Amino acid sequence: MSLAERKLFVERWIRSPLKVASVTPSGTELCRAMARAAASGPGRRVVELGPGTGPVTAALREHGTAARDLLMIELDAAFADHLSTLHPGAGVVRGDATRIQKIVHEHGWETCDSVVSGLPLIAMPLSVQARVVRGAFSVLAPDGVFVQFTYGPFAPVNPELIRRLRLKPRRHAWIARNLPPASVWTFHRLP
Ligand SMILES: C[S@@+](CC[C@H](N)C(=O)[O-])C[C@H]1O[C@@H](n2cnc3c(N)ncnc32)[C@H](O)[C@@H]1O
Repeated sequence: MSLAERKLFVERWIRSPLKVASVTPSGTELCRAMARAAASGPGRRVVELGPGTGPVTAALREHGTAARDLLMIELDAAFADHLSTLHPGAGVVRGDATRIQKIVHEHGWETCDSVVSGLPLIAMPLSVQARVVRGAFSVLAPDGVFVQFTYGPFAPVNPELIRRLRLKPRRHAWIARNLPPASVWTFHRLP
């Protein structure tokens, strides 16, 4: 990650601390675990929510995701502009993750294989969380996966929502060397 990216991240955090929700972009090991959890790779479509400066995006690309198979949804205009420059050919929408279904369909996709979220999801009110997660599962293929990281000890989706949407949470990885240590969780639909 470049110095300019670190600077951009801190600038946007100062401007919007609750939305950016971290003073530093995620570390490489955490981002690689996210890409593995998404089972990303050639020919698999990924929607990324809250990509920030793009460390998870970089891991997805390294894991074989082509630019045309990647759609990013980022609320912050400066991050969105930065990502458009870094990943020509990828979809970058400056918008709200709660509108995922509309954004994905307007992009011309019916479904995707994974939704990878860098959002501060668990800190969001339940109604907002519900719109994001419900929206994600409305565009995911039946065997698609929702991936979310957290610094906390529990699954980063409200338990009531997990029950209502009939999701199966699983801790995919624990990254002790991230600062702070983080877990990557996957969510699948129960059959
Ligand atoms: C904790 S940062 C994670 C950034 C990056 N994924 C990483 O791991 O370094 C959260 C990101 O989510 C974005 N964000 C917050 N709320 C959002 C929303 N409702 N829709 C889309 N993006 C949002 C922020 O602008 C920020 O880029």
